Amino acid sequence: MQVLEDLEAKGLAELAQATDEALLRLWHGNWLGRTGHVPAALKRVAEIPPQERKAYGQTANRVKETLTGAYEKALEREREAVLDRELQAPPLDPTLPGRNAPRGGLHPSTQTLRRILRVFGDLGYQAYRSREVEDDETNFGLLNMPPHHPARDMWDTFHTTTPGLLLRTHTSPGQIHVMRERAPAPIRVVLPGMCHRYEQITARSEIMFHQVEGLCVGEGITLADLKGTLEVFIRRMFGDSRQMRIRSSYFPFTEPSIEVDMDCMLCGGAGCAVCKHSGWVEILGAGMVHPTVLRNGGYDPARFSGFAFGMGPERITMLLSGIDDIRYFWGNDLRFLGQF
Ligand code: PHE
Repeated sequence: MQVLEDLEAKGLAELAQATDEALLRLWHGNWLGRTGHVPAALKRVAEIPPQERKAYGQTANRVKETLTGAYEKALEREREAVLDRELQAPPLDPTLPGRNAPRGGLHPSTQTLRRILRVFGDLGYQAYRSREVEDDETNFGLLNMPPHHPARDMWDTFHTTTPGLLLRTHTSPGQIHVMRERAPAPIRVVLPGMCHRYEQITARSEIMFHQVEGLCVGEGITLADLKGTLEVFIRRMFGDSRQMRIRSSYFPFTEPSIEVDMDCMLCGGAGCAVCKHSGWVEILGAGMVHPTVLRNGGYDPARFSGFAFGMGPERITMLLSGIDDIRYFWGNDLRFLGQF
């Protein structure tokens, strides 16, 4: 009995030393856990002479209850103390405004693409998505560039490991897909999408970029229609006072071919670094669809004519926002992207 009394006193004394929750749990393991002192004392009942067993058992159980109760109280007290300390710590102000979740935005190229598509949408054009992986024949051959045609050098090409399959170098092959789908109905479509060219990456040229192709096919379409359409586009896109200039050019799939310039909106034509001190900036390439291309698309060039144009939304965004390096577009620098 004395041993049990001593055990109880010692247990309570040690419990009083446990000053945090971890120490309390450690104490619990030592005293009340499966191999702790109290279960061991309870087990010793077997060694006690039979006439004393009952009294021993009762006392041992009382010790167990006392220690268990004391432990639970100590644990409770410790938790309240922790809570008290937390409440006394520098106050939490639940009325403080929350932190704003950072908001994403549309990529500048997407914003420009959408503006371009809206202008042409207002002119009655539909958007047509063409494939980004093309075959050689559609990217070049059907656009009037048979194998070994020197004009193929205008588009340095990424080829896939499948012979004859490549990443389109421009959106013009989409002209063939649309024409073959719609012939002989009239067409007014814009074809937006990503293009790739195997080029040196510089401030002015990237290996991937968007283009927006335009194609209008019908009866009696002339170069004057092309000019009028582009004039409307340029004024809607860049402002009513913009001047437009047409230069003759060469593309195998248009005849005649033109390049279209606009007076530099940064210097107003006075000359600056962006316009290379010429007062003019190149906006797009265009021309009347070549009879061979019309025929490849399923249209009889004796009856139908059409115009096509192609422009680069990144270049246009650079002009609109005064960006001097095309590499910003795929650099994924949020300091750049966040400005749009
Ligand atoms: N596909 C030409 C290019 O990538 C642009 C173009 C499109 C020219 C349509 C004329 C007509 O440079």
